[in-house]
Amino acid sequence: MSQKIATVDRVLSLELARVTEAAAVSASRMVGRGDEKAADQAAVDAMRRALNDLPIDGTVVIGEGERDEAPMLYIGEKVGTGTGPKIDIALDPLEGTTICAKAMPNSLAVIALSENGGFLNAPDVYMDKIAIGGGYPDGIVDLDNDPADNVRALAKAKGVPVGQITACVLDRPRHAEIIAKLRAAGARVKLIGDGDVAGVIDTTNPEETGVDIYIGTGGAPEGVLAAAALRCTGGQMQGRLVFPNEDSKVRARRMGIEKLDRKYKLEDLAKGDVIFAATGVTDGSMLSGVKIGKGFITTHTIVMRSNNGTVRWIKARHTDPHKFD
Ligand code: FBP
Repeated sequence: MSQKIATVDRVLSLELARVTEAAAVSASRMVGRGDEKAADQAAVDAMRRALNDLPIDGTVVIGEGERDEAPMLYIGEKVGTGTGPKIDIALDPLEGTTICAKAMPNSLAVIALSENGGFLNAPDVYMDKIAIGGGYPDGIVDLDNDPADNVRALAKAKGVPVGQITACVLDRPRHAEIIAKLRAAGARVKLIGDGDVAGVIDTTNPEETGVDIYIGTGGAPEGVLAAAALRCTGGQMQGRLVFPNEDSKVRARRMGIEKLDRKYKLEDLAKGDVIFAATGVTDGSMLSGVKIGKGFITTHTIVMRSNNGTVRWIKARHTDPHKFD
Protein backbone atom coordinates (compact mmCIF):
# COMPACT_ATOMS: atom_id res chain seq x y z
CA MET A 1 0.00 0.00 0.00
CA SER A 2 1.36 3.45 -0.80
CA GLN A 3 2.31 5.48 2.24
CA LYS A 4 0.13 8.34 1.15
CA ILE A 5 -3.16 6.52 1.17
CA ALA A 6 -2.12 4.49 4.22
CA THR A 7 -1.90 7.62 6.30
CA VAL A 8 -5.12 9.12 5.09
CA ASP A 9 -7.40 6.15 4.58
CA ARG A 10 -8.21 5.62 8.25
CA VAL A 11 -9.35 9.21 8.53
CA LEU A 12 -11.07 9.09 5.16
CA SER A 13 -13.07 6.03 6.16
CA LEU A 14 -15.05 8.05 8.67
CA GLU A 15 -15.20 11.09 6.42
CA LEU A 16 -16.70 8.91 3.71
CA ALA A 17 -19.51 7.92 6.04
CA ARG A 18 -20.40 11.61 6.28
CA VAL A 19 -20.54 11.82 2.49
CA THR A 20 -22.96 8.92 2.02
CA GLU A 21 -24.99 9.95 5.07
CA ALA A 22 -25.53 13.40 3.54
CA ALA A 23 -26.63 11.92 0.20
CA ALA A 24 -28.90 9.36 1.84
CA VAL A 25 -30.63 11.86 4.12
CA SER A 26 -31.28 14.25 1.24
CA ALA A 27 -32.60 11.44 -0.95
CA SER A 28 -34.73 10.11 1.90
CA ARG A 29 -36.85 13.26 1.78
CA MET A 30 -37.97 12.07 -1.65
CA VAL A 31 -38.75 8.46 -0.68
CA GLY A 32 -42.14 7.39 -2.01
CA ARG A 33 -42.81 10.63 -3.87
CA GLY A 34 -42.64 9.04 -7.30
CA ASP A 35 -40.06 11.48 -8.61
CA GLU A 36 -36.87 9.62 -9.49
CA LYS A 37 -35.12 12.63 -10.97
CA ALA A 38 -35.73 14.84 -7.96
CA ALA A 39 -34.57 12.09 -5.60
CA ASP A 40 -31.38 11.60 -7.59
CA GLN A 41 -30.75 15.34 -7.78
CA ALA A 42 -31.14 15.73 -4.02
CA ALA A 43 -28.60 12.95 -3.45
CA VAL A 44 -26.16 14.32 -6.03
CA ASP A 45 -26.24 17.86 -4.62
CA ALA A 46 -25.69 16.64 -1.07
CA MET A 47 -22.95 14.19 -1.97
CA ARG A 48 -21.09 16.80 -3.99
CA ARG A 49 -21.22 19.35 -1.16
CA ALA A 50 -19.91 16.80 1.34
CA LEU A 51 -17.21 15.54 -1.04
CA ASN A 52 -15.90 19.02 -1.61
CA ASP A 53 -15.15 19.32 2.12
CA LEU A 54 -12.79 16.33 2.00
CA PRO A 55 -9.04 17.04 2.08
CA ILE A 56 -8.34 15.20 -1.17
CA ASP A 57 -7.41 15.89 -4.76
CA GLY A 58 -10.24 13.72 -6.04
CA THR A 59 -11.36 12.82 -9.55
CA VAL A 60 -14.70 11.20 -10.29
CA VAL A 61 -14.05 8.18 -12.53
CA ILE A 62 -17.41 6.47 -12.08
CA GLY A 63 -20.13 9.06 -11.73
CA GLU A 64 -23.46 10.33 -12.88
CA GLY A 65 -22.42 10.05 -16.53
CA GLU A 66 -20.19 11.76 -19.01
CA ARG A 67 -19.69 15.50 -18.84
CA ASP A 68 -22.14 16.41 -21.59
CA GLU A 69 -24.95 14.42 -19.99
CA ALA A 70 -24.38 15.06 -16.26
CA PRO A 71 -24.20 18.57 -14.84
CA MET A 72 -22.64 17.35 -11.59
CA LEU A 73 -20.42 14.53 -10.41
CA TYR A 74 -19.69 13.73 -14.03
CA ILE A 75 -16.78 11.52 -15.05
CA GLY A 76 -13.62 13.61 -14.83
CA GLU A 77 -15.03 16.16 -12.35
CA LYS A 78 -12.56 17.27 -9.71
CA VAL A 79 -13.81 17.06 -6.13
CA GLY A 80 -12.39 17.69 -2.68
CA THR A 81 -10.34 20.62 -1.47
CA GLY A 82 -7.65 19.76 -4.02
CA THR A 83 -4.93 19.78 -1.39
CA GLY A 84 -4.63 16.15 -0.28
CA PRO A 85 -3.65 12.91 -2.00
CA LYS A 86 -4.74 12.11 -5.56
CA ILE A 87 -7.70 9.79 -5.30
CA ASP A 88 -10.08 8.23 -7.81
CA ILE A 89 -13.73 8.16 -6.87
CA ALA A 90 -16.53 5.86 -7.94
CA LEU A 91 -19.94 7.00 -6.79
CA ASP A 92 -23.64 6.54 -7.11
CA PRO A 93 -25.34 9.13 -4.89
CA LEU A 94 -28.63 7.26 -5.24
CA GLU A 95 -28.35 3.61 -6.31
CA GLY A 96 -31.90 2.57 -7.03
CA THR A 97 -33.65 5.80 -8.02
CA THR A 98 -36.86 3.92 -8.83
CA ILE A 99 -36.70 2.02 -5.55
CA CYS A 100 -36.42 5.32 -3.69
CA ALA A 101 -39.25 6.93 -5.66
CA LYS A 102 -41.48 3.92 -4.92
CA ALA A 103 -40.33 3.48 -1.28
CA MET A 104 -39.16 -0.05 -1.96
CA PRO A 105 -36.22 -1.87 -0.33
CA ASN A 106 -32.49 -1.54 -0.99
CA SER A 107 -31.88 1.95 -2.23
CA LEU A 108 -28.46 3.20 -1.14
CA ALA A 109 -26.05 6.13 -1.34
CA VAL A 110 -22.74 4.60 -2.41
CA ILE A 111 -19.14 5.72 -2.83
CA ALA A 112 -15.74 4.07 -3.20
CA LEU A 113 -12.23 5.54 -3.22
CA SER A 114 -9.05 4.11 -4.65
CA GLU A 115 -5.55 5.19 -5.40
CA ASN A 116 -5.04 6.77 -8.79
CA GLY A 117 -6.05 4.33 -11.53
CA GLY A 118 -7.61 1.76 -9.20
CA PHE A 119 -11.02 1.54 -10.85
CA LEU A 120 -11.98 0.39 -14.31
CA ASN A 121 -13.07 3.57 -16.07
CA ALA A 122 -16.30 1.97 -17.18
CA PRO A 123 -18.57 3.83 -19.59
CA ASP A 124 -22.26 4.05 -18.82
CA VAL A 125 -23.21 0.78 -20.53
CA TYR A 126 -24.37 -2.60 -19.23
CA MET A 127 -22.10 -5.25 -17.79
CA ASP A 128 -22.64 -9.01 -17.64
CA LYS A 129 -21.84 -9.97 -14.07
CA ILE A 130 -21.36 -12.98 -11.88
CA ALA A 131 -20.42 -12.82 -8.19
CA ILE A 132 -20.12 -15.08 -5.17
CA GLY A 133 -18.97 -14.51 -1.62
CA GLY A 134 -15.69 -15.50 0.00
CA GLY A 135 -14.44 -18.90 1.08
CA TYR A 136 -14.69 -20.75 -2.26
CA PRO A 137 -11.84 -22.02 -4.44
CA ASP A 138 -10.81 -19.59 -7.17
CA GLY A 139 -12.69 -19.94 -10.44
CA ILE A 140 -15.47 -22.12 -9.04
CA VAL A 141 -17.96 -20.14 -11.14
CA ASP A 142 -17.37 -18.41 -14.45
CA LEU A 143 -19.21 -15.83 -16.50
CA ASP A 144 -18.83 -18.02 -19.58
CA ASN A 145 -20.26 -21.15 -17.99
CA ASP A 146 -23.89 -22.10 -18.26
CA PRO A 147 -25.82 -20.71 -15.24
CA ALA A 148 -26.91 -24.27 -14.38
CA ASP A 149 -23.27 -25.43 -14.26
CA ASN A 150 -22.37 -22.47 -12.08
CA VAL A 151 -25.01 -23.21 -9.44
CA ARG A 152 -24.17 -26.92 -9.50
CA ALA A 153 -20.47 -26.17 -8.96
CA LEU A 154 -21.30 -23.72 -6.20
CA ALA A 155 -23.59 -26.19 -4.46
CA LYS A 156 -20.88 -28.85 -4.58
CA ALA A 157 -18.30 -26.47 -3.15
CA LYS A 158 -20.72 -25.38 -0.42
CA GLY A 159 -21.61 -28.98 0.33
CA VAL A 160 -25.36 -28.53 -0.15
CA PRO A 161 -27.91 -29.71 -2.74
CA VAL A 162 -28.53 -27.26 -5.61
CA GLY A 163 -31.98 -26.72 -4.14
CA GLN A 164 -30.32 -24.86 -1.28
CA ILE A 165 -28.56 -22.38 -3.57
CA THR A 166 -30.24 -19.02 -4.18
CA ALA A 167 -29.29 -16.86 -7.15
CA CYS A 168 -30.10 -13.15 -7.16
CA VAL A 169 -31.14 -11.86 -10.59
CA LEU A 170 -32.54 -8.52 -11.75
CA ASP A 171 -36.15 -9.01 -12.79
CA ARG A 172 -35.83 -8.13 -16.46
CA PRO A 173 -37.10 -9.82 -19.67
CA ARG A 174 -33.46 -10.08 -20.83
CA HIS A 175 -32.84 -12.56 -18.00
CA ALA A 176 -35.64 -14.98 -18.93
CA GLU A 177 -33.25 -17.64 -20.21
CA ILE A 178 -30.89 -17.38 -17.23
CA ILE A 179 -33.81 -17.62 -14.81
CA ALA A 180 -35.26 -20.65 -16.62
CA LYS A 181 -31.87 -22.42 -16.58
CA LEU A 182 -31.31 -21.70 -12.90
CA ARG A 183 -34.75 -23.01 -11.97
CA ALA A 184 -34.40 -26.06 -14.21
CA ALA A 185 -31.15 -26.86 -12.39
CA GLY A 186 -33.10 -26.75 -9.12
CA ALA A 187 -31.77 -23.47 -7.73
CA ARG A 188 -33.97 -20.82 -6.16
CA VAL A 189 -34.09 -17.44 -7.88
CA LYS A 190 -34.50 -14.24 -5.91
CA LEU A 191 -35.72 -11.59 -8.32
CA ILE A 192 -34.96 -7.97 -7.52
CA GLY A 193 -36.61 -5.00 -9.19
CA ASP A 194 -33.52 -2.82 -9.06
CA GLY A 195 -30.33 -2.29 -7.08
CA ASP A 196 -27.75 -4.84 -8.09
CA VAL A 197 -24.97 -3.26 -6.02
CA ALA A 198 -26.81 -4.65 -2.99
CA GLY A 199 -27.55 -7.83 -4.96
CA VAL A 200 -23.85 -8.50 -5.50
CA ILE A 201 -22.85 -7.55 -1.95
CA ASP A 202 -25.57 -9.86 -0.58
CA THR A 203 -23.56 -12.85 -1.84
CA THR A 204 -20.89 -12.07 0.77
CA ASN A 205 -23.29 -12.71 3.64
CA PRO A 206 -25.53 -15.64 2.57
CA GLU A 207 -26.38 -16.58 6.17
CA GLU A 208 -28.29 -13.32 6.56
CA THR A 209 -29.31 -12.44 3.01
CA GLY A 210 -30.01 -15.94 1.74
CA VAL A 211 -28.20 -15.05 -1.51
CA ASP A 212 -25.34 -17.30 -2.70
CA ILE A 213 -24.69 -16.02 -6.19
CA TYR A 214 -25.51 -12.99 -8.32
CA ILE A 215 -25.94 -13.52 -12.06
CA GLY A 216 -27.08 -11.19 -14.82
CA THR A 217 -26.68 -7.96 -16.69
CA GLY A 218 -26.81 -4.60 -14.94
CA GLY A 219 -25.10 -1.23 -15.04
CA ALA A 220 -21.32 -1.24 -15.55
CA PRO A 221 -20.77 1.62 -13.05
CA GLU A 222 -22.73 -0.39 -10.46
CA GLY A 223 -20.48 -3.34 -11.31
CA VAL A 224 -17.36 -1.38 -10.42
CA LEU A 225 -18.91 -0.16 -7.16
CA ALA A 226 -19.95 -3.67 -6.18
CA ALA A 227 -16.45 -4.92 -7.03
CA ALA A 228 -14.97 -2.30 -4.70
CA ALA A 229 -17.11 -3.70 -1.88
CA LEU A 230 -16.14 -7.30 -2.67
CA ARG A 231 -12.47 -6.33 -2.60
CA CYS A 232 -13.02 -5.40 1.05
CA THR A 233 -15.20 -8.31 2.15
CA GLY A 234 -13.73 -11.09 0.02
CA GLY A 235 -15.55 -12.82 -2.80
CA GLN A 236 -15.23 -13.44 -6.51
CA MET A 237 -16.64 -11.44 -9.37
CA GLN A 238 -16.32 -11.29 -13.13
CA GLY A 239 -17.76 -8.74 -15.53
CA ARG A 240 -17.86 -8.04 -19.24
CA LEU A 241 -19.01 -4.79 -20.81
CA VAL A 242 -21.97 -4.93 -23.18
CA PHE A 243 -21.99 -2.42 -26.01
CA PRO A 244 -25.38 -1.64 -27.58
CA ASN A 245 -23.97 0.22 -30.60
CA GLU A 246 -20.90 1.64 -32.37
CA ASP A 247 -21.15 4.96 -30.55
CA SER A 248 -20.78 3.26 -27.15
CA LYS A 249 -17.71 1.42 -28.44
CA VAL A 250 -16.14 4.66 -29.60
CA ARG A 251 -16.81 6.22 -26.18
CA ALA A 252 -15.30 3.21 -24.44
CA ARG A 253 -12.13 3.40 -26.52
CA ARG A 254 -11.91 7.10 -25.70
CA MET A 255 -12.02 6.12 -22.03
CA GLY A 256 -9.03 3.84 -22.51
CA ILE A 257 -10.77 0.49 -23.02
CA GLU A 258 -8.92 -1.40 -25.73
CA LYS A 259 -10.23 -4.94 -25.63
CA LEU A 260 -13.98 -4.45 -25.72
CA ASP A 261 -14.91 -8.09 -25.03
CA ARG A 262 -12.51 -8.49 -22.11
CA LYS A 263 -13.66 -10.58 -19.18
CA TYR A 264 -12.73 -8.54 -16.11
CA LYS A 265 -11.86 -10.16 -12.82
CA LEU A 266 -12.49 -8.55 -9.46
CA GLU A 267 -9.01 -7.00 -9.33
CA ASP A 268 -9.42 -5.60 -12.85
CA LEU A 269 -12.59 -3.81 -11.79
CA ALA A 270 -11.20 -2.41 -8.52
CA LYS A 271 -7.53 -2.81 -7.72
CA GLY A 272 -5.12 -1.55 -5.08
CA ASP A 273 -6.37 -0.08 -1.83
CA VAL A 274 -10.03 0.61 -1.81
CA ILE A 275 -12.45 2.14 0.69
CA PHE A 276 -16.18 1.59 0.22
CA ALA A 277 -19.07 3.26 2.01
CA ALA A 278 -22.83 3.00 1.66
CA THR A 279 -25.72 4.48 3.64
CA GLY A 280 -29.21 3.01 3.43
CA VAL A 281 -31.87 5.31 1.98
CA THR A 282 -34.68 2.76 2.26
CA ASP A 283 -34.53 -0.38 4.40
CA GLY A 284 -32.63 -3.19 2.74
CA SER A 285 -30.82 -6.49 3.06
CA MET A 286 -27.59 -4.83 4.07
CA LEU A 287 -28.63 -1.62 5.80
CA SER A 288 -31.64 0.02 7.38
CA GLY A 289 -32.82 3.18 5.71
CA VAL A 290 -32.91 6.74 6.98
CA LYS A 291 -35.30 7.15 9.92
CA ILE A 292 -36.73 10.55 10.80
CA GLY A 293 -37.33 10.90 14.54
CA LYS A 294 -38.68 13.81 16.56
CA GLY A 295 -35.79 16.26 16.37
CA PHE A 296 -33.24 13.80 15.05
CA ILE A 297 -32.40 11.61 12.07
CA THR A 298 -30.89 8.14 12.26
CA THR A 299 -28.67 6.74 9.49
CA HIS A 300 -27.08 3.32 8.98
CA THR A 301 -23.81 3.14 7.11
CA ILE A 302 -21.29 0.48 6.23
CA VAL A 303 -17.65 1.42 5.69
CA MET A 304 -15.07 -1.11 4.55
CA ARG A 305 -11.37 -1.02 3.73
CA SER A 306 -9.60 -3.51 1.50
CA ASN A 307 -6.18 -3.22 3.11
CA ASN A 308 -7.25 -4.84 6.37
CA GLY A 309 -10.75 -6.10 5.59
CA THR A 310 -12.30 -4.10 8.42
CA VAL A 311 -16.04 -3.65 8.03
CA ARG A 312 -17.72 -1.03 10.21
CA TRP A 313 -21.44 -0.53 10.66
CA ILE A 314 -22.10 3.01 11.79
CA LYS A 315 -25.47 3.86 13.26
CA ALA A 316 -25.54 7.62 13.60
CA ARG A 317 -28.02 9.89 15.33
CA HIS A 318 -28.00 13.38 13.85
CA THR A 319 -29.54 15.90 16.20
CA ASP A 320 -29.17 18.84 13.82
CA PRO A 321 -31.25 17.87 10.78
CA HIS A 322 -30.49 21.27 9.22
CA LYS A 323 -26.87 20.32 8.66
CA PHE A 324 -28.14 18.33 5.67
CA ASP A 325 -29.95 21.30 4.11
P1 FBP B 1 -30.43 3.59 -11.00
O1 FBP B 1 -30.06 3.91 -9.61
O2 FBP B 1 -29.62 4.35 -11.99
O3 FBP B 1 -31.89 3.70 -11.20
O4 FBP B 1 -29.99 2.04 -11.24
C1 FBP B 1 -30.71 1.00 -10.67
C2 FBP B 1 -30.31 -0.31 -11.30
O5 FBP B 1 -31.24 -1.31 -10.92
C3 FBP B 1 -28.91 -0.80 -10.98
O6 FBP B 1 -28.77 -1.34 -9.70
C4 FBP B 1 -28.68 -1.79 -12.09
O7 FBP B 1 -27.30 -2.06 -12.29
C5 FBP B 1 -29.34 -1.11 -13.27
O8 FBP B 1 -30.31 -0.21 -12.73
C6 FBP B 1 -30.01 -2.05 -14.22
O9 FBP B 1 -30.41 -1.32 -15.34
P2 FBP B 1 -31.84 -1.47 -16.02
O10 FBP B 1 -32.87 -0.87 -15.08
O11 FBP B 1 -31.73 -0.69 -17.28
O12 FBP B 1 -32.10 -2.92 -16.24
